[in-house]
Amino acid sequence: QSAQKGGYKHFMLKEIFEQPRVITDCMTGRVDWQRKEVLLPELDALPVPKRLHIVACGTSYHAGMWGQTLIENWSGIPVNVEIASEFRYRDPILQEGDMILVISQSGETADTLAGLRIAKDRGINVIGLCNVVGSSIARESDTVIYTQAGPEISVASTKAMCSQMTVLTLMALAWARRTNALADDTRVNAITGLSKLAGQLEMELPRMRSEAQSLARLYSTARSFFFLGRGQCYPLALEGALKLKEISYIHAEGYASGEMKHGPIALIDPDFPTFALALNDHLYSKVKSNLEEVQARSGKVIALANPGHDLKVDHPWILPEAWGPLNAFLALPALQLFSYEAADYLGKDVDQPRNLAKSVTVE
Ligand code: G6P
Repeated sequence: QSAQKGGYKHFMLKEIFEQPRVITDCMTGRVDWQRKEVLLPELDALPVPKRLHIVACGTSYHAGMWGQTLIENWSGIPVNVEIASEFRYRDPILQEGDMILVISQSGETADTLAGLRIAKDRGINVIGLCNVVGSSIARESDTVIYTQAGPEISVASTKAMCSQMTVLTLMALAWARRTNALADDTRVNAITGLSKLAGQLEMELPRMRSEAQSLARLYSTARSFFFLGRGQCYPLALEGALKLKEISYIHAEGYASGEMKHGPIALIDPDFPTFALALNDHLYSKVKSNLEEVQARSGKVIALANPGHDLKVDHPWILPEAWGPLNAFLALPALQLFSYEAADYLGKDVDQPRNLAKSVTVE
């Protein structure tokens, strides 16, 4: 087992550090770097959806939420994202030309598979985004796009989300080519940004880990945490909270930071810290003022930020800047490492957390 862990203490840590390679593997054969075009023949086999429904659970659902904005903004296709256990029982409106995208690392999650079958019964095309080759979801989908992330052993999903986000970025670009909705310079910037991403992350991971280690030591005695973000950082905030809950058993809530004032901010006190995503995007100043509200109530704040930020938080955690929405690929491992280090510091069974299974094949 220790050989399988490649010298890392846990599979989770190994899988977090595999992410630069995962990004590269996931794009292999799928990008023409010269012409700056995406090649996804799996998608070209189907018409462009009139409306896309993304259905998934857990971390895969967060990846879907993240992909929603990219697909809508770049391709102009309206996207609805749903938790599979809700979708399957609510008699969703599915119309001609709609398409379902089911996202599942294992390809065996019972609720996600049920969502797929509802779509198929109604004659709706299904795209499967899976990691495990030949899994039930892969077999039953009309077309499957593999994430090519390699086996994920740790129960808490890490590299799978990174690979799903990579494919979602490619899908948004592939559809945008067909809908003609995306300006050429954005496409070129996106593809150039993608080509640099693995190298940027590889360089940053060791520093990220030591930052995570020192913050985890300071904060793992907290009983509760908020994870806040807005826009495309909102799904990452949800994922950061999920990771912390899953493996360290510290209570954590992921929240859209603009929504804090409608109730949750009542919980803030010096013992209820906040982990915020305050990256350099169009919502930075909004997040900044949301964090000032938290600090005005004596809440401690850790914030992921980019160089040049002017936050006055307790612990700014500076990440190198990628292009636009690709900054998520640098923020995600920071969140994962913070949870990992907290759980490890608390002596928890990181790879096999209590009450959880890698693949949930029952309802
Ligand atoms: C389980 C795992 C999670 C995962 C979720 C969905 O709950 O513990 O880490 O995100 O299932 O799994 P899937 O294989 O469908 O992506």
